[in-house]
Amino acid sequence: MTSNSICLGIIGGGIMAEAILSRLLAQKIFAANTILVSEPRAERREFLVQRYQVQVTADNQATVSASEILLLAIKPQVFAQAIANITPNPHSTVISILAGVTLDKLEQAFPQQPVIRVMPNTPATVGTGMTAIAPGTKVQEQHIQQAKSIFAAVGEVVEVPESSMDAVTGLSGSGPAFVALAIEALADGGVASGLPRAIALQLATQTVLGTATLIKETGMHPGILKDRVTSPGGTTIAGVAKLESLGFRSALIEAVKTATARSKELGE
Ligand SMILES: NC(=O)c1ccc[n+]([C@@H]2O[C@H](COP(=O)([O-])OP(=O)(O)OC[C@H]3O[C@@H](n4cnc5c(N)ncnc54)[C@H](OP(=O)(O)O)[C@@H]3O)[C@@H](O)[C@H]2O)c1
Repeated sequence: MTSNSICLGIIGGGIMAEAILSRLLAQKIFAANTILVSEPRAERREFLVQRYQVQVTADNQATVSASEILLLAIKPQVFAQAIANITPNPHSTVISILAGVTLDKLEQAFPQQPVIRVMPNTPATVGTGMTAIAPGTKVQEQHIQQAKSIFAAVGEVVEVPESSMDAVTGLSGSGPAFVALAIEALADGGVASGLPRAIALQLATQTVLGTATLIKETGMHPGILKDRVTSPGGTTIAGVAKLESLGFRSALIEAVKTATARSKELGE
């Protein structure tokens, strides 16, 4: 169903769409009856209505036509199919979270309207995401503010030129997997040193979360924090020296560079 008062239309009612809309509703940025989601699967539509009382449709054109802001939240592989035969609505701002779909491609599909390319990351699903937004050629300050207010509901937002999107993908997009590996490895180290698995995982997770929070809240440089916890001849400097000898920092640097290069490759 459609309405003329739809503020936010979402194409694709999957994981990321749900993460965003649930927080937009909880923070009262949009009212449920001003959000319309188009989603092909009936049971998923039913779930979104039951859980969030948003409006739903199986018709992408209805969502495109009704929306002031159109959020594309489908998988990149179905982009062409989802917008095939769609008549764009020149009065809406288009925001895309599709990994690897360039502003150029988006502006070809929506030639008369402002288009913003956005890269959120998985922690957005729990409200601690990191989102980068890159404005297209017709975007004005008010459109950037619209996009920022949407993604601020699921975490932090930075604006970057589109040329930085591959690096954003390599760092904050892929980064949750790198950090998950680090947490798992720290827990393995704890188990190898005699801790029960559950306690080791709790210690590892809270240590990563606590350190990130400390750095963020104090603005302390990570190198200074490291210096503060390494006493002369102590345990921590012994561990740090081992990490250096095994190339821990270069491994992370290379991981981000390689993920960035892969993102570039996939976009070609
Ligand atoms: N998840 C993340 O952490 C993350 C991070 C950064 C960027 N992104 C981007 O976010 C986008 C969505 O990812 P996701 O994880 O939310 O995927 P998802 O859970 O698979 O959601 C996509 C939804 O779109 C629906 N859909 C499929 N074809 C459609 C069509 N023709 N018209 C309308 N809807 C259609 C799917 O329905 P069916 O299930 O029936 O196919 C599904 O409900 C992707 O482009 C991804 O690159 C995701």
